[in-house]
Amino acid sequence: MSRKNRTRMPSATSLVARSFPDKIIGIENSLPWHLGTDLRHFKERTIEHAVIMGRKTFESIGRPLPRRCNIVLSRRPLEESKFVKWAPNPETAILLADQFSILNLKKEFFIIGGEEIYNIFHNYINLIYLTDVNTGPINGDAKFEMDFDSREWWFRFEREFPRSDVDDYSFRISCIVRRKPFHRFLSKAERFGTDPNIWQAWERYEAMMERTKPDVVVEDEQLDLLKDL
Ligand SMILES: NC(=O)c1ccc[n+]([C@@H]2O[C@H](COP(=O)([O-])OP(=O)(O)OC[C@H]3O[C@@H](n4cnc5c(N)ncnc54)[C@H](OP(=O)(O)O)[C@@H]3O)[C@@H](O)[C@H]2O)c1
Repeated sequence: MSRKNRTRMPSATSLVARSFPDKIIGIENSLPWHLGTDLRHFKERTIEHAVIMGRKTFESIGRPLPRRCNIVLSRRPLEESKFVKWAPNPETAILLADQFSILNLKKEFFIIGGEEIYNIFHNYINLIYLTDVNTGPINGDAKFEMDFDSREWWFRFEREFPRSDVDDYSFRISCIVRRKPFHRFLSKAERFGTDPNIWQAWERYEAMMERTKPDVVVEDEQLDLLKDL
């Protein structure tokens, strides 16, 4: 089937905070810092979207993230609810994220860690909000070691944040974009079978994607978010 008859699927965006210079993201299944401002940024970007995470990260958060579709990867069945979906493999995680995004007219979903999950999806990720936390050397057992070669990625913007009452360390948030984004194209019959809700939402989703340039994955209104932090 030609691309003309297929629709672009939502794009994968990632958020990650890592220590500078050691690239540590976690220790004993928790975050090595408290950064209230960064958490607010995380919340404002991901709210009302699908978020994909590993079982260990889900446990470390301790509850489903509210007003988001929490897709949790685990090889063992997980108790599901309206806001928590179990994905036994990466392909199911993407399928669930696509379904939620189409039904809710979202152009992107989020990969939110931890280390194993970033490694599984790193080839799918078109945009990263990277928080470099100025901790200096610290201990940790989970890392995010991805490098951003300027031939493959460009920095759309960066913003520095000082240490504050709600932030243990100063940090920088960078918005990093893949130069040649990875896009998936599907027809509705290919993947979503006979779910009537998806069929109803499809036309609106398709029209929305036709209006969006393929290389623009970040929602325009979200670009302003950092200004308000
Ligand atoms: N700083 C940050 O931005 C950030 C963000 C998120 C997390 N973290 C930190 O990262 C650490 C956790 O990372 P992690 O790498 O240890 O764990 P993780 O990626 O959160 O979860 C790993 C689990 O995901 C499941 N999984 C992995 N591959 C799978 C596959 N192919 N199919 C099905 N399930 C699969 C397995 O669950 P089962 O064992 O149940 O099968 C595996 O044990 C914590 O310290 C957390 O605080 C930091």
